[in-house]
This record gives sequence, structure tokens and C-alpha cells, in this order.
Amino acid sequence: MYSIIRKFLFLFPPETIHDILFSFLKVACKLPGFLTFISFFWGARAPQEPKELCGLRFCNSIGLAAGFDKNGELIEFWEALGFGHMEVGSVTSLPSQGNPKPRIFRLREQESILNRCGLNNDGAKQVALNLQKARKKKMIIGVNIAKTHSPEIIGRAGVRDMLDSYVLLAPLADYVTLNISCPNTREGKTFEDPVLLEELLREVHALRYNTPLFLKLSPILTERGLEDVINISLRWGINGFVVSNTLPYEHETFGRGGLSGLLLQESSSHLLQKLKDLLPSECLVVASGGVLTAENFVERLHLGANLVQIYSALIYRGPSILKEMLLLSKN
Ligand SMILES: Cc1cc2nc3c(=O)[nH]c(=O)nc-3n(C[C@H](O)[C@H](O)[C@H](O)COP(=O)(O)O)c2cc1C
Repeated sequence: MYSIIRKFLFLFPPETIHDILFSFLKVACKLPGFLTFISFFWGARAPQEPKELCGLRFCNSIGLAAGFDKNGELIEFWEALGFGHMEVGSVTSLPSQGNPKPRIFRLREQESILNRCGLNNDGAKQVALNLQKARKKKMIIGVNIAKTHSPEIIGRAGVRDMLDSYVLLAPLADYVTLNISCPNTREGKTFEDPVLLEELLREVHALRYNTPLFLKLSPILTERGLEDVINISLRWGINGFVVSNTLPYEHETFGRGGLSGLLLQESSSHLLQKLKDLLPSECLVVASGGVLTAENFVERLHLGANLVQIYSALIYRGPSILKEMLLLSKN
């Protein structure tokens, strides 16, 4: 059934159809009975033992990855589909239009997506309002925070920019993910740089919020880079890691961007394995990257992921993939 719907959806450019569907769903979700209908016909209610992690109760292991609902506008809809958690964002302190369009490209043959969105979002204040309005019941909501996409905001100002979002959003989130793969210097160094990371985490720690804190890592971190990130993170009480973000790539037709989907699968699971070897067992690991099938989902759990997030699978396989994943993991 989804293969027919997909043919129609793929007639439109990716971001156009994304925006059309969001506009439709925002209205539809307000109609009485719509969410019950979605939950009844599409919702993944296949049984999986709830997981208690970092003091949070996840009703299943599948989450919607950051970037799909950047502003947290359809929280009730994702809950009706059966997600155990979702990551709103990336949210930045200041609202941003992001890079010029087109900036999302389907690589259909490879079941992958290339994007260079440039952190388009409505800004932390608006997202805070959306989170306050959301009528979710049991889905866990993480908020993914990044530095405002501006070459003017770097170094110390970059840290302050992240903290501004953190102060606004952490009290409204079940957990916070710091997206530390964004540049914070003129040379393009990210918060994965040990000096910058130490400074950021020291300041976050000083605020003494109780919200569990995760870091989202790039799949191209070197062995040494990963060890540094882990050592610093453990010193400052980081609760978990999301592995991974998109894979930087220069496409011959579409230009530069980050890869998601099948083309990210190998590097993302490789990083997951390296991380599991280096981390103490109480540290939570969320897998993200190239989880397209129910088998991929179970593999990541076997590699030691506590939770798994999807993005491309929803585009290429449709919402019923959740049910397939939960059913296979039960068997
Ligand atoms: C169009 C698009 C936008 C994204 N935006 C964000 C973002 O704002 N913040 C973030 O941390 N990850 C973002 N991601 C990365 C996803 O959260 C996810 O880590 C990545 O797509 C790998 O998962 P997948 O292979 O299941 O798609 C984005 C991905 C795509 C395709």
C-alpha cells in the first residue's frame, strides 16, 4: 500500500511534500477522532517491554530522529503512530531560514537522502511554546539543541547561544541532546573539539538541571577524537550518546551535504560498535543512521543500542515499518 502512496509523494520535491503534509496534518490533528483513527489503522501497538532508561519510561525502543519535526508541531501525531520517543529539533537559539532551497535530495536507488538544510527552525522561544501546548500522553520527548547557524556566532558566543536554548528548553524536555557536530570556529571546528566541548559541558553542568543529557556525534570522528569526547563527557556526567549524525559527502549532481539512509549505515553502526567498546555499561546509546528494515532495527539492538531512531525508513518504507520492527524484535 505505501509503495503506491510513495509513488505519488515522490512526484514532488522532498521539502515541498514535507511541508504540504505538515500543513495538512496540523489541521487534521485538531479534528475529533483523527488521531484515534491514525492510531487504530497505522499505529504500531505490537508489544515490546517498556524500558526504564535514565529514569524515563520508554514504551518501546523506536524514536523519530531529529530533523523530521524540527519545531515540535506534530507531537501527538508521532505518538499516535506508535513512536516510543521523538527528538524535536535541531532547535537553535535564534530562528533561522537555513540554507537556500533545494537543500534536500532523494538518492532513490540507494535508499538515501542528502541534505544541507543548515538548521532551519523557528527558534527556541517558539519551540518552547509548541512544547507547552503539546498534549502528549506517554511518548518521551527529547529536544535536540544546536548552535545558531551563523558565522558571526562562534567561540564563546557559540557556547552562550547553546546555553540560551538549553535554559529555555531543558525544563520542557524529557531529555536534551546537544548536537555537537556543528561548527563553532571560523576554521569549522565543531563542539567535538576537546577544548570547545569541555567549555560547553562545564557551563551546562553549572546550571544543574536534572534533565538527562545526550550528545549527538558525527560518524567521521577519529578513534582519538572519540576517546577525547568520551573522557570529557564522562567527567561532566553525560547520560548517553546518539550515533550518529549524517555523513558529510560531496555529490556530483547535488553538491555537498550530509548523507542519511543506506549510505550511512556502515559508518553509523561502526561508530556504535566502537562506542560500546569504550563506554561504561550504564551509559545509554541511541542508534541512528541507516536503520531501514526490521532486521536493521534488531541488529542495532544486538550491537548494544538501548534505543533506535529512524528518519529515512519513514520516507522509503512508510509508517508501517514501526509495526514490522516491533514485531520482529518481539520474536
Ligand atoms: C532532511 C534531514 C534533516 C535533518 N536535520 C537534522 C537536525 O536538524 N538535527 C540533527 O541532529 N539531525 C538531523 N538529521 C539527521 C537525522 O536525525 C538522522 O540522524 C539521520 O538522518 C540518520 O538516520 P536515517 O539514516 O534513519 O535517516 C536530518 C536528516 C535529514 C534527512
